[in-house]
Amino acid sequence: MDAQGAVSDAARGSRDDLAHARRVAEEVARDAGAILMQGWGTRPDIEFKSEDIDLVTEFDKRSEALVVSRLAAAFPADTIVGEEGTTVGGARAQRTGRVWYVDPLDGTTNFAHGFPLFSVSIGLTIDRRPMVGVVEAPAVGWSFSGALGDGSRLNGKPIAPSRVASLKRALVVTGFPYLRSPAHTNLPEWSALIAAAQGTRRLGSAALDLCFVACGWLDVYWERMLHPWDLVAGAAIVEAAGGRATEMDGTPFDGETGRVVATNGLLHDEMKALLHGVAASSGGAWP
Ligand code: IPD
Ligand code: CA
Ligand code: CA
Repeated sequence: MDAQGAVSDAARGSRDDLAHARRVAEEVARDAGAILMQGWGTRPDIEFKSEDIDLVTEFDKRSEALVVSRLAAAFPADTIVGEEGTTVGGARAQRTGRVWYVDPLDGTTNFAHGFPLFSVSIGLTIDRRPMVGVVEAPAVGWSFSGALGDGSRLNGKPIAPSRVASLKRALVVTGFPYLRSPAHTNLPEWSALIAAAQGTRRLGSAALDLCFVACGWLDVYWERMLHPWDLVAGAAIVEAAGGRATEMDGTPFDGETGRVVATNGLLHDEMKALLHGVAASSGGAWP
C-alpha cells in the first residue's frame, strides 16, 4: 500500500479472486446465521467478557468455529482473526496480505434479548484495505455483500447510498462503547448530532449500521472503541456501494484504530467538521 492508501493491482487480487472470496463468505455467513437462529428467542445463557455488559453466548462460539474452519479450508494461505479468540495463520501484529476478520455474532446484546438486529460479519482486507464484506442478518432475512470494484448488494440486488447532502436532512446512527468512562464515551458527539441532524439512532450492530449507510436507509454512521471484526466487512460494503468509510479525520480506514465515520460521501466533510468541532469545544477525543 502506498502513502495515499492505494493498493497495487498485484496486491489487490484479481476481480475473480474477490468474486470467489465473496461467494464463499456469503455461503459461510448463511450457514453461521442458521446456527444463530437456533439460539435466537431462547434467552440463551450468557457469560461476561471484559465488562459486565459485554456478553458472549455459546452461539457466538459455535458460529465462529464454523466460519473460521470453513474459511481456513477454502483459503489455507490466508490469516483469519475471530473476535472470540480464533487466529489462524500470521501473528496478530502481521496484518499485511490477505486477512479475514470475523465477528461471529455482531449485536450479541440484541440477540440475547431476542431483538432481531444482529448479524454475522465477515470481512477481507488486503494490505489492510477492506476489499470484500459479507453481513448476514438471519432474523430479518437480509444478506448484504460487497467487493471493491464490483458493487454491493442486498439479497442479490444492487444497493447505493442516499443522496442526502446536508446533516440537517440526515438520519444518523452510532453505538456506545462497553467502557462507560467519560474518556471513552461519545456522548458529546451524540448531543451535537441530536441538535444538528434530522434524527439519530442507536441500533446495536456496527456491521449492520454500516450496511444501512451503504443501502441508503441511513446517511451517516460513526463510532469509536470498536475492533476490526466489527468494522471491516461493513466498511468494504459501504465503499463498494459508492459511499465513504474513513478514519474520523478522513484518512484511509484502518480497522485497527476501532474508529470509523461512514457516509454517503456527500456528508463526509460536514460530518468530519462537526466531530472536529465537538472535540475542540469539549476536550473530547480527536480524531
Ligand atoms: C457490538 C455492536 C454494537 C457496538 C458495540 C460492539 P458485539 O458488537 O457492534 O453496535 O456499539 O460497541 O462491540 O459485542 O455485539 O459483537
Ligand atoms: Ca461486534
Ligand atoms: Ca460479536
